[in-house]
Amino acid sequence: MMAGEGATRFARAWGVPEINLLTERSRMAWMAWKQSLRDAEGNNNWTDGLDAPAPTAKQAAALRQIWPEASDEMIAWAFEMAHFPTTGTINCLALNAKGEMSGTTTTSGMAWKIPGRVGDSPIIGAGVFVDQEIGAAGSTGRGEENIRVVGAHAIVENMRHGMEPKDACLDVLKRIAKSYRNDPAKLSKFDINFYALRKDGVHAGASLWSGRVQRGYMAGFQYAVNDGTGDSRLEKCVWLLERKA
Ligand code: GLY
Repeated sequence: MMAGEGATRFARAWGVPEINLLTERSRMAWMAWKQSLRDAEGNNNWTDGLDAPAPTAKQAAALRQIWPEASDEMIAWAFEMAHFPTTGTINCLALNAKGEMSGTTTTSGMAWKIPGRVGDSPIIGAGVFVDQEIGAAGSTGRGEENIRVVGAHAIVENMRHGMEPKDACLDVLKRIAKSYRNDPAKLSKFDINFYALRKDGVHAGASLWSGRVQRGYMAGFQYAVNDGTGDSRLEKCVWLLERKA
């Protein structure tokens, strides 16, 4: 696996064009998010931080100094993004009519990542794993937790030993919870989801927490299925812990 400067140099050497994918809108959302950062004493040397998605006049003015032409709508969008940073990793598992299986997981959709962070997605065995004789599995959510249990591989091994896809996923979620002594306060700080597709087409999704409505849609807790018989549909994940609020 290659990452960071070495990967960039390798890509350049092979003629891959360098493109800046950062839009001004995204840069504004990042700047708005930076306003929310605090040191250990709770100080922020810019403005008062983000306590609500709507910007205060002072916060909006700080962004207008950099983007004098920005519309109110764009500033409001930037604060919404900063308040609810996007995630958006996608795991996709497939079984074709010949019985061949495949799987992929996009690199992280996590916003404001530390430069150089790789996450779990590209790590075979963590973000995704396929065994043509057994099935496939993958993950979304906080990758650091998944890497520690090598989740996708563990799920496929669970299925190899006879567990149903749903139970295979839940078992790995239980391992993660156990590493926090099953402490709900600590576990409430993150989300993680697993998906499994067995060789015979049986599938499951499992989340650490039951779903919650975020910005008008159900975050986590659902996964999309297309079994080749018609339109895609959403199915519910099983979950390990019930979210109280
Ligand atoms: N699961 C995606 C990531 O943590 O980067």
